[in-house]
Amino acid sequence: MAHVLVIGASNGIGLETVKAALAAGHRVRAFARSAARIDLTDGNLERFTGDALKVADVEAALDGVDAVVQALGVPFLDMFKPVRLFSDATNVLVPAMEKAGARRLMSVTGFGTGDSKEAIGFLQLVPFRLVFGRAYDDKDAQEIRIRKSGLDWTLVRPGVLTSGASTGRYRVLDEPSSWRNGLIPRADVAHFLVQHIENGSYVRKAVVLVG
Ligand SMILES: NC(=O)c1ccc[n+]([C@@H]2O[C@H](COP(=O)([O-])OP(=O)(O)OC[C@H]3O[C@@H](n4cnc5c(N)ncnc54)[C@H](OP(=O)(O)O)[C@@H]3O)[C@@H](O)[C@H]2O)c1
Repeated sequence: MAHVLVIGASNGIGLETVKAALAAGHRVRAFARSAARIDLTDGNLERFTGDALKVADVEAALDGVDAVVQALGVPFLDMFKPVRLFSDATNVLVPAMEKAGARRLMSVTGFGTGDSKEAIGFLQLVPFRLVFGRAYDDKDAQEIRIRKSGLDWTLVRPGVLTSGASTGRYRVLDEPSSWRNGLIPRADVAHFLVQHIENGSYVRKAVVLVG
């Protein structure tokens, strides 16, 4: 069993990952500014209040950790302002992991990041860029930083997120020719993340996840 740091653990995919990792028997350090609000009871859970942009917080949170899941998000309305969270937090995280000797990083970005942008249909591209363009430009910079690292990384690019329980029935698309958009529950993204914490199948690869 691994000791896993989940960054962005108080909500969404991060919170689902905390639940799934605990259910799988891992030790989990759940990192967020509002970590104290995580309403779970488990002897293997440690809530860690911290800011992903602060070097001291991230370095402290990496103590004794084997693997990191980075699942940061910005509120919807903040996507219409300049977005720097993803790249700035990654510029903090990657050197801190290299210094700490924690090698495994699974980072949630999204379908449309990096080379998967080319797989967005023409009719979807204009609204996608209008709403998500600033966030995804920053996710591009996030992915570039991770690819430049010496870490054992996986870039995890879900399609459109939905709520609800894990189905375990989703597609892991690792060939660019197969990339397409689709719906996927956050809990299924978490399922993939936890399945691959200690599994090297997708190390140094980008995958698109759809239901
Ligand atoms: N919505 C979609 O259809 C879609 C599709 C593909 C990909 N995505 C991406 O998937 C990711 C996860 O989205 P989600 O909706 O599941 O999550 P979310 O609800 O947006 O949760 C974001 C998490 O990030 C944490 N966070 C934000 N700033 C932080 C900071 N400075 N320091 C520490 N923690 C911070 C938040 O906790 P605190 O506020 O407590 O710090 C929260 O736990 C996002 O990157 C999103 O862009 C979304």
